[in-house]
Amino acid sequence: MEKIIIKGGQPLRGKVAVEGSKNAVLPLQAAAILAVQGTVTLNNVPPVTDVKVMDRLLGFLNLKTAYGEKQRQLVLNASFPLSSEAPYDYVNQMRASLLVMGPLLARTGHVRIALPGGCSIGARPIDLHLAGLEKLGAEIKQDAGFIEASCEHLVGTRIPLDFPSVGATENIMMAATMAAGITTIENASCEPEIIELGNLLNKMGAHVHGAGSKVIRIQGVYYLHGAEYTVIPDRIEAGTWMLASAVTNGDVIVQGTVPEHNASLIAKLEEMGVTIIKQADGLRVLGTSVLIPANVKTMPYPGFPTDLQPQMTVLQLLANGTSTMEEHVFEKRFIHLEELRRMNAKFQISGSVAILDGPTRFSGAEVTASDLRAGASLVLAGLAADGITQIRNPQCLDRGYYHFYQKLRALGAKIDRLNIEDKFKITPDQQPRQNKGQEKE
Ligand code: EPZ
Repeated sequence: MEKIIIKGGQPLRGKVAVEGSKNAVLPLQAAAILAVQGTVTLNNVPPVTDVKVMDRLLGFLNLKTAYGEKQRQLVLNASFPLSSEAPYDYVNQMRASLLVMGPLLARTGHVRIALPGGCSIGARPIDLHLAGLEKLGAEIKQDAGFIEASCEHLVGTRIPLDFPSVGATENIMMAATMAAGITTIENASCEPEIIELGNLLNKMGAHVHGAGSKVIRIQGVYYLHGAEYTVIPDRIEAGTWMLASAVTNGDVIVQGTVPEHNASLIAKLEEMGVTIIKQADGLRVLGTSVLIPANVKTMPYPGFPTDLQPQMTVLQLLANGTSTMEEHVFEKRFIHLEELRRMNAKFQISGSVAILDGPTRFSGAEVTASDLRAGASLVLAGLAADGITQIRNPQCLDRGYYHFYQKLRALGAKIDRLNIEDKFKITPDQQPRQNKGQEKE
């Protein structure tokens, strides 16, 4: 069984470079479906599992793609006849597969995609995606675990969103680029990744205005063509490195970040006594031995990002007193705290609020990563803990972090990733014996 093994207590020192943004690249990959001629070339594309899953899905839809890992360049060509069915295997592996719905509907007039299953951080319904596409004129049917959407042609309209959903905003933007007339998305997501999508779509010949603000206006066009685009750095990876320096009382320079993309995190770190110095080669993050408690609320951008919530709770648990974390984006995103409890964390959860009782002396333990960001929080706790921490299911980290443990080792962490036979694994001949007449459990 593969595990990450950490011997904690080592302050991180040195420089770490941030990869391109996974959550910006995924919608840009899907947007390539819209290019009826020419190629879409994306630069600064991180070699993470989610990007590779999306690439395999696009290949299944008959796009031709090529990725140069060294150059971090992905080239996509959608000028061939496309399939419009996304099988369960892809959607089940990655919810962001849903992002092919809008562009496939606009390009082919049809899409059949498996409904995504459950998720460890919440129900994550797709009602806002479907309602938006329906308002543009799509007929939506659901059967046998699949969603089917079809339309003669899409017509622009006003689409108010009940919640500023990132994915729903992205799907509707892409569908609207080829809808007749004007589409107005109200209460749109304002994340930097939305701006990236608007920029690429406009380079492909679309007319998108206001991406990054609450109201996005799109004038439909007849077709889109290829373009080249360089993706922004990953603000969640950057924030994870900043928190890794803070939890180990380290001194790390996080290179290649866009500071304003992490403004809410920087404000909270400074409130807790961490020093952030903006310098030419990046953000220098200096930890402190006495952390001040702080209350945090996750909110849509520019609020504190939910994708840094698990990692932030580790720093709050180290602080000298009680902090609170309010999770306002996903309804079930505290699963990592139960793992941290095994490392000595003390907390209570009441609804969407976690009351975190610091200071915590984390003690090493064997824990399991349930998802990408929960896994990152367990690594951070292991770095701060006394003794050895073993983390199961490290594969989930590969979804959004490239060379995660290698980069931590380069910063001085005592960390490795090993295949360890579980010495307590019960082999068939060790199965508990059944007494005569005792019913099998
Ligand atoms: C994106 O997911 C990100 N993923 C997530 O990052 C991130 O946590 C999330 O936005 C919030 O910032 C990608 O960009 C690939 P949402 P998305 O639609 O688009 C509810 C990571 O770790 N909702 O903004 O799926 C939903 O249940 C991942 O990199 C509906 O109710 O998020 C949630 O409570 C995890 N109906 C809230 O909105 C809908 O139709 C926010 O979801 C859609 C969403």
